[in-house]
Amino acid sequence: MTISHISKALNKRFWPLLPLVGLAALTLNAGQAPLATQHLTFYKDVLPILQEHCQVCHRPGEIAPMPLVTYKQTRPWTKAIRQAVKSRQMPPWFADPAIGHFANDPSLTAPQIQTICDWADHGAMAGDPRDAPPPPHWAAGWTIPQPDRIVEMPRPVAIPARGDVEYTYEIVPTGFTRDMWVRMSEIRPSARDHVHHAVVYIRPPDSKWLRRAPVGAPFTASTLKDPQDRRDAMWTDSEVLLVYAPGSAPDQWAPGRAKFIPAGSDLVFQMHYTTNGRAASDQSSIGLIFARTPPKQRVLTLQLTNDKFVIPPGVDNYRVEVHGTLPNEATLLSFFPHMHLRGKRFEYNIVHRDGSVEPLLRVNYNFYWQLSYKLATPRFLKAGTELQAVAWFDNSRNNPHNPDPESAVTWGDQTYDEMMVGFFDVAVPANVNKWQFFKRRTAASRSSQ
Ligand code: HEC
Repeated sequence: MTISHISKALNKRFWPLLPLVGLAALTLNAGQAPLATQHLTFYKDVLPILQEHCQVCHRPGEIAPMPLVTYKQTRPWTKAIRQAVKSRQMPPWFADPAIGHFANDPSLTAPQIQTICDWADHGAMAGDPRDAPPPPHWAAGWTIPQPDRIVEMPRPVAIPARGDVEYTYEIVPTGFTRDMWVRMSEIRPSARDHVHHAVVYIRPPDSKWLRRAPVGAPFTASTLKDPQDRRDAMWTDSEVLLVYAPGSAPDQWAPGRAKFIPAGSDLVFQMHYTTNGRAASDQSSIGLIFARTPPKQRVLTLQLTNDKFVIPPGVDNYRVEVHGTLPNEATLLSFFPHMHLRGKRFEYNIVHRDGSVEPLLRVNYNFYWQLSYKLATPRFLKAGTELQAVAWFDNSRNNPHNPDPESAVTWGDQTYDEMMVGFFDVAVPANVNKWQFFKRRTAASRSSQ
């Protein structure tokens, strides 16, 4: 196994977050409350924290069950909020704090947790609305600012009430007459409860991928006549524009970095729907914000994948690893680990020449929260850097999500199968595409530079 630019089909499900185990509860010094804490108010002290750390999900129309925008909405949840922040269950974040720093870490600081607890313990007062910070501006329906362009699947997909649904594809021509650079993007499912993952691929005009498949209408692999097309549906070397799973963040690249969509490309939506007893219809879209000036660097999504494992029945800490050598220099930006229900822990490391292992990220994996982890400081990697991803699986009875502790588990699409994919994003020079990036230079040509 090496670093691969082949994208395997993903499979994600989302159920309500179950109580987290294993996250250390932060112990705080309660003591005697100083006078100041008795004057903590919603508008002055608590609302700024909610705006910055909670409302991205806790506002109307978003994934959290209740908005925490107004005092009236928040007051009934005081106890639950106190509990959720004290136990660090909210905001959701699964990186081991001992390893690395991440730009999108939403965790509260100890003083912020203390403020919320003290406020809750002293009457959860409203205070003076004039103390409130200005409300954040959310583009209606988006977490990124108002998109420059929204590409919607042209036809809604009917989702049955019951049964397995095969991955559903919809190919959408962009109509772009010139090359475009995407600085931010966000996938919005319309039937969120039924969308367990979505991947949007970029299909350039010269790509042969799914060429005989219908355009502008939903289809599944098994409806394609050609056997090669059916296989192609599941395997592609097309560039990933964005992966969506419930809780995952949109892409927002720093100025000077963007993803590239060649003129005349199509976007290919790969949707995994699951049923929940209620029929529905989904018409997902992706919002795009373009770079105003051509960027210096192009962002590529790569992956470290191992699909050759067998997890024995009953084993509670089964280790699977994969190594890959970076073919050319690149700047490492972010990570997105993916496993299924038996996923327990996931690590990305650099293995140095002397054999020492430098951890970059360790995630206490939670299938119901598939997050991306963006490095606070992007990391330059030389050509030849050895990257390692390690996954641990819990196939024991003690794993409450385990669909079947009796079975030996191998790679597969369904959640009762497993996956081991370490997606990661890198920035490379703007004129280098993925195929060029994977051309390994020989030692001779490298040393001559
Ligand atoms: C990434 C999205 C996200 C963010 C950020 C987030 N939440 Fe949540 N929150 C959810 C979702 C989804 C649920 C419902 C599923 C669950 O209970 O886990 C939830 C549930 C809760 C609950 C209910 C728990 C219960 O007892 O039922 C509370 C309280 C809560 N959040 C408070 C907060 C607070 C306070 C913050 C900010 C400090 C926050 N959340 C940040 C998504 C989020």
